[in-house]
Amino acid sequence: MTHERPRARSRLLHQMTRSLRPPLLLAISLAATAGAAAQPPRRTAVPPPSCSAVTQQTCSTAQALGRGINLGNMLEAPREGDWGVKLEPVYIDQVAGVFDTVRVPVRWSNHAALTADARLDEAFAKRVDQVVDALLAKGVHVIINMHHYNQLSGNPLHPNEKEVDPAVMDTRLVNMWRQIAQRYRDRSPRLLFELLNEPHGRLNGEAWNTLAPKVLAAVRATNPTRAVLIGPGEWNSVHELKKLRLPPDRNIIVSIHNYDPFDFTHQGVQHLAKPFPLGTTCCDARQRKAITDALETARQWSAANGHPLHLGEFGTYEKVDLPSRVAYTRFVRDEAERRGIPWTFWEFASEFGVWSPKTGEWVEPLRRALLD
Ligand code: BGC
Repeated sequence: MTHERPRARSRLLHQMTRSLRPPLLLAISLAATAGAAAQPPRRTAVPPPSCSAVTQQTCSTAQALGRGINLGNMLEAPREGDWGVKLEPVYIDQVAGVFDTVRVPVRWSNHAALTADARLDEAFAKRVDQVVDALLAKGVHVIINMHHYNQLSGNPLHPNEKEVDPAVMDTRLVNMWRQIAQRYRDRSPRLLFELLNEPHGRLNGEAWNTLAPKVLAAVRATNPTRAVLIGPGEWNSVHELKKLRLPPDRNIIVSIHNYDPFDFTHQGVQHLAKPFPLGTTCCDARQRKAITDALETARQWSAANGHPLHLGEFGTYEKVDLPSRVAYTRFVRDEAERRGIPWTFWEFASEFGVWSPKTGEWVEPLRRALLD
């Protein structure tokens, strides 16, 4: 517990102060093309630690998630483009050419009625359809989630984020998922739903254990067997797995996030309340232990509880020195894979990115650390 507390606090402060962050990225060149030749998708060779609590299909789906990427800071900005990067068609070709899975964070909550029924904005939903269908057509697995519904976890709003009456907050989550699930009910089983990115704050512990089954029930009304991702509290911390109580459902994959060592991965991020100075390298024995301890905690939980895992986020800020970013990335990848944990790297083309919109090319050493 000792090491995750400052990290959890930092994450909280990070989110609380994100509104101070100016958009960092410049306009993106539409003419940008992929720098790397497409290669056949790679899958995690090691099977999940256990699949005793899931169906054979969900076990296979978990394993097929393999190596993936987050199209971050795009559809989960308050409005697409607000954070300097839009989900360009060329990105779909690039990521689908080299990864097995694409996680698409989506801020549905800012594109739905503010009332309890949370009727989805059709133009925004069509935009998500476009992305989901283009990715599915490429043959990859796709994860869509509910990202940055800030009020739900008790966070302040981002600029351009609409406030809702606290009395309807939770019901809106259920009703948004009812509509999303209905909308995608006939899509390939390669589409997965993740109920909520990084529950924390007011949702920690029992609050999430009580709300998640209601959300899942809304999904199950139309998608009885689709694989659904649910993660523990404290920003999907592995240390909270022991508090997670899952509904009795045989198609749940458990999502974890890990940015340990946080003072390394988030150094230089200016929108943290107390930014970490630059200059921390990676990975010495203490840092490696922080990473392997977290992954091992998760593996043991999975082995004991029968749900396969997915590491939905790990990554480093762009100002971290490149050789250390590369060493960290390869180390986390290898340690996750040897434990049968598929992953999606945070993220593609923004501040933690593996692809540079400025040059229109992959950050090649990082790409290799993920895929070679
Ligand atoms: C958040 C991002 C953040 C990243 C790294 C993600 O879960 O959604 O806003 O940049 O974590 O801190």
